[in-house]
Amino acid sequence: MRIMFIGDVVGSPGREMIDTYLPKLKQKYQPTMTVINGENAASGKGINEKIYRRFLEKGAQAVTLGNHAWDKKEIFEFIDDADYLVRPANMPEGTPGKGLAFIKTPHAEVAVINLQARTFMAPLDDPFRKIDELINEAKKRTNIIFLDFHAEATSEKQAMGWYVDGRVSVNVGTHTHVQTADERILPQGTAYISDVGMTGPYDGILGMEREAVMKRFLTQLPVRFEVPKDGRTQLSGVVVDVDDKTGKAKKIRRIMINDDHPFFS
Ligand SMILES: [Fe+2]
Repeated sequence: MRIMFIGDVVGSPGREMIDTYLPKLKQKYQPTMTVINGENAASGKGINEKIYRRFLEKGAQAVTLGNHAWDKKEIFEFIDDADYLVRPANMPEGTPGKGLAFIKTPHAEVAVINLQARTFMAPLDDPFRKIDELINEAKKRTNIIFLDFHAEATSEKQAMGWYVDGRVSVNVGTHTHVQTADERILPQGTAYISDVGMTGPYDGILGMEREAVMKRFLTQLPVRFEVPKDGRTQLSGVVVDVDDKTGKAKKIRRIMINDDHPFFS
């Protein structure tokens, strides 16, 4: 089977890229399933039900989150009924929503897991011990496990990649919004990339208006960050081929669409 993943969709520019390119990417790569990270999809922070449903309508089978999961308060009204919305699994016991979802596909069932790292991030439960637990749970039903590890530090991402090598099919990194060129199949069969990158404004800074970010660096004063309303946009993703039976990854390719990397059908 083939799994396509689209990195952190930021605000309306990111959503418009999904509208424009997801059908084209599906046509080109024919993925068995598509996963989108949507934690920045509503005005750069959080997600609402309308956007979540729209991603499903556009052809995603699961939507993952991260540290901005709770930024739109509306999420508490629908997350417990959102079967395909996956928030970081290592949040405290009793947190609404779930961190592991089983998605049926024409080939096999896929376990989709979202975890959040701890280096330079909130001190959640240990994601390494949590993934052991989740792999055991997932393996009772399927060999195909997809992990979105939402992390700031590349070292923690690489540590997770090597830790789960051979035990999960795909381990993509998200959160830092800049695509890394280190996609590979680890020796035991896990497809890995430190960060898939961001889908949204191309000329901002990590998807936010660059003037505000620069002002923050220049003045050290608090500045409100907004998603630019117009301007050039980009889409970032990966496509991974996975053996249906063993769950081992065979191939990983990066997707990058912007004016410097035009889309070819
Ligand atoms: Fe994030």
